[in-house]
Amino acid sequence: MPNPETFPAERIASIAGQVIRERRAVALQYGPTRGLPRLCAFIAELCRTRGIACSVDDVLTTTGSQQALDLIAHTLLDPGDVVAVELPTYIGGSSSFFARSATLVGVQQDDDGIVPESLREVASRTRIKLLYTIPNFQNPSGRLMTQQRRDAVLAIAEEHDFLIIEDDPYGELVYVDEADTTPMKSRDAHERVLYLGSFSKVLAPGLRCGWIIAAKPLLERIEIAKQAADLCSGMLDQSIVDEFCAGGELAPQIEKVRAFYRGKRGVLLESLHQHFTGRAHWTSADGGLFTFVTLNEDVDTAKRVEDAVASGVAYIPGGPFFVDGSGRNTMRLTFAKETDDRMREGVARLAGVFYP
Ligand SMILES: Cc1ncc(COP(=O)(O)O)c(C=O)c1O
Repeated sequence: MPNPETFPAERIASIAGQVIRERRAVALQYGPTRGLPRLCAFIAELCRTRGIACSVDDVLTTTGSQQALDLIAHTLLDPGDVVAVELPTYIGGSSSFFARSATLVGVQQDDDGIVPESLREVASRTRIKLLYTIPNFQNPSGRLMTQQRRDAVLAIAEEHDFLIIEDDPYGELVYVDEADTTPMKSRDAHERVLYLGSFSKVLAPGLRCGWIIAAKPLLERIEIAKQAADLCSGMLDQSIVDEFCAGGELAPQIEKVRAFYRGKRGVLLESLHQHFTGRAHWTSADGGLFTFVTLNEDVDTAKRVEDAVASGVAYIPGGPFFVDGSGRNTMRLTFAKETDDRMREGVARLAGVFYP
């Protein structure tokens, strides 16, 4: 979860009052399934700045990007269809695919992102329908896929004829200068990529506002599924986000959020360095909200979580993020929520749990 301190609560309260009083026929009414037109136009512009050639007609707003995952799964998957996912991957993604009785197959990842040989191997032994990837500061690994790897993934998709869901909720949360977060969608010559975005991590996840950019025929089918699911995303949420963005407030907000997390990331990495050097390795979290820690092969982090909680510290065991049952010696840590002092203390306690 993002840190509530990053939510511009006073502005949201004031905008909420304003749109309810002044635009009730929009903010409190049903709206178009595609989304509030001015917000869709803003999203299209935002995505153009990320290098994606798109117009307002290519955008469908969703009730968070979680709904996008569910709608895509609903629209595209039949029972038994193969979805390739990263090892590890976001559980909300795998849940959406499992819910449609898809078969999930894991693809290896290293610190540069998806390993092309692994994807090629999976593609040659199964008929992949969809690949689900989070190239920017992945949940849970925090990794950034290199642009070369993105190109390799696009080429394999072309060769083996499958679609790609590119889920990008963390791309704006960058803490180092050199990170290249340009989406795959920007080089999607054959419209294989369904690009997902969200305001959750930069504004507030309680405003359930995400989006899909995809090829027109696909988007039209997803729109029909959305109409059946909820007619439209919450118009009050959309109206608030729209007003915030139209007023030019998103860019400075993103800067503030970045600065906030950049400091916290430093504290967590420094504490890990102090207590875990030589005992484990962890991802550099150059963006996003997580670092992923790999311990010795013989450690099962799921079995140790109760000991950890008894010591007053918690983590997310990594195993459930791996669809092939591997990753038992991993865990996900976040620097998003705790104060700097509690993070330092937490990492020290964690070291005490694993290395008493
Ligand atoms: C990779 C990824 N995708 C999608 C989501 C869902 O985000 P939302 O529905 O709030 O946009 C999350 C939430 O943590 C996530 O980590």
